[in-house]
Amino acid sequence: MCGIVGYVGQNNAVPVVIQGLQRLEYRGYDSCGIAMMNSEGLNLEKVTGKVMELQGLLAQKKNSTSLAIGHTRWATHGPPTFDNAHPHVSQDGKIALVHNGIIENYKVLRDELENDGYQFRSETDTEVIVGLISKCYHGNLEHAVREALSYVVGAYGLAIVHADEPEKIVCTRKGAPLILAMGENEYFVASDVAAILHYSKDVIYLDNEEIGVLTPEGIETYSVADEPVVKKIHKITFNLEEIEKGGYEHFMLKEIFSQPQTIYDAMRGRLLPEEGNAHLGGIEHMIGSILHADQRYFTACGTSWHAGLIGEMMFEQFARLPCEVEYASEFRYREPLVDAKSIVFAISQSGETADTLAAIQEAKNRDATVLGICNVVGSSIARETEAGVYVHAGPEIGVASTKAFTSQVTVLSLLTLKLARLMGMSESDGLEIADAMQRLPENVEWVLKQADQIAEIAKLYADASNFLYLGRGVNFPVALEGALKLKEISYIHAEGYPAAEMKHGPIALIDKSMPIVAIAPQDKTYDKILSNIEEVKARHGRVIALATRGDERIKDIADHVLYVPPALSFTAPILNVIPLQLLSYYVAVERGCNVDQPRNLAKSVTVE
Ligand code: M6R
Repeated sequence: MCGIVGYVGQNNAVPVVIQGLQRLEYRGYDSCGIAMMNSEGLNLEKVTGKVMELQGLLAQKKNSTSLAIGHTRWATHGPPTFDNAHPHVSQDGKIALVHNGIIENYKVLRDELENDGYQFRSETDTEVIVGLISKCYHGNLEHAVREALSYVVGAYGLAIVHADEPEKIVCTRKGAPLILAMGENEYFVASDVAAILHYSKDVIYLDNEEIGVLTPEGIETYSVADEPVVKKIHKITFNLEEIEKGGYEHFMLKEIFSQPQTIYDAMRGRLLPEEGNAHLGGIEHMIGSILHADQRYFTACGTSWHAGLIGEMMFEQFARLPCEVEYASEFRYREPLVDAKSIVFAISQSGETADTLAAIQEAKNRDATVLGICNVVGSSIARETEAGVYVHAGPEIGVASTKAFTSQVTVLSLLTLKLARLMGMSESDGLEIADAMQRLPENVEWVLKQADQIAEIAKLYADASNFLYLGRGVNFPVALEGALKLKEISYIHAEGYPAAEMKHGPIALIDKSMPIVAIAPQDKTYDKILSNIEEVKARHGRVIALATRGDERIKDIADHVLYVPPALSFTAPILNVIPLQLLSYYVAVERGCNVDQPRNLAKSVTVE
């Protein structure tokens, strides 16, 4: 959620940290700051607003240092003010700290520290950690950090410096992401690989409560029990270009247009078109357990939850395997019927979503087998799950998820195909599905060619206050996803509904100012959806229909028609969601919204 970057090495740390923070702005962005070590001690600069403003401030002052830690904040405790911005500094001015996460028992800790005479400057939960470390400090920062954190309940990724140990950054994490990285005689800490990719591709993933100590001599890591541990160095496989806009106006647009490739990447080496089957290396050894489980669950949040809904429908329709989909945030607290005979799939783009991590823990506590469907390699969810499948969408920077969603659905389709064949799906049906999946990238290309037409339609509807999205079967989750995309980036209220449910309530809302997006492919519910569209038209609603290429009939009743190629219900959600992504994108652009960094949202929600 918040972003952390730290540097120690031979070069000037300031531009490294600033560039890193800029790359992290998509994670959290209401204020930012940097703590720099110099011969006189700590030097602190903070601003409310963008990293660009901090950069300007630092340029005026010509700061230079070989050690610094920086932060971009997404406010949780206290509004985005100067005092609440990180880094937070101890009362004696010697310790500076940046934090991502939430300290749940901060109130109790704050009261205790205040009783001891400690004076707080901010309203944040974070500042109690600084106070505690200050209290526990007796000449060794990592020891003080370990002792201080033994009093803390909550989630954290932390980078801490002390003026008496000016060549050291101490880092630790619990339930929030943090990586360490090494270059040539320079070392980094960051909450996301994107921050340091320009300098290093060799990273260490800290496990919960492990401590990393960065100095100009290298990185040392220690276990929870304070024993030295040798950590594996992982090679990052994606490139800098993948986290840059590459000529597109926004990351979101670039990511929408990359879907022919990302969908292909999700299938590569996994789809077996000649056999009408699929092979998913990461969970091949779990297929028997999935088939024979007593219960199967998908758990996730937001867009990933919508992918789970599609997964559920496909599992049940094609593999005839019952399954449930749960919001991760609800799963944890509703005493789920999960035991050792249950399989729980956690779906997540970032692999760092706190609610999903908590749901995984709940499932594990109940002895279930938990599998991951994740995008970010090496993320917490990828490491907390027994086995899993990466969706290989590459870094997704736009806050509104697009390519990760279609890659998740692609992986769920492959898994369904595999299970369905084992459950008796005929070879000819398998071949037909595999062929349709193989043609997805070219069909997505075809859909993307309609971007200009969608941009024109968006202009006509950009001033609407409400939208209703209607779909049936696998297209109901697509309607939900279309509505979520619009809400997130254009701030227009939008709801997704099963089309036939409209007459049971939402029809009351329809008048000439209410645009309806009706997903109306030529499948078994086509005639019913046409009737729903007629019901809308009879009440003067305006209809944007998503229809199968060649459908002329729908032109007579809808105000606008967007076409997608003919599709099986297996591949329909992927094709149908793309025009809806584009529609929300162009509406948001038309309204002058910050598409990649919508207000109040962060890319990965690492607090519960
Ligand atoms: O990283 P995750 O997939 O676990 O994130 C889950 C949701 O926070 C995420 O999908 C969110 O709803 C996005 N902003 C959707 O565009």
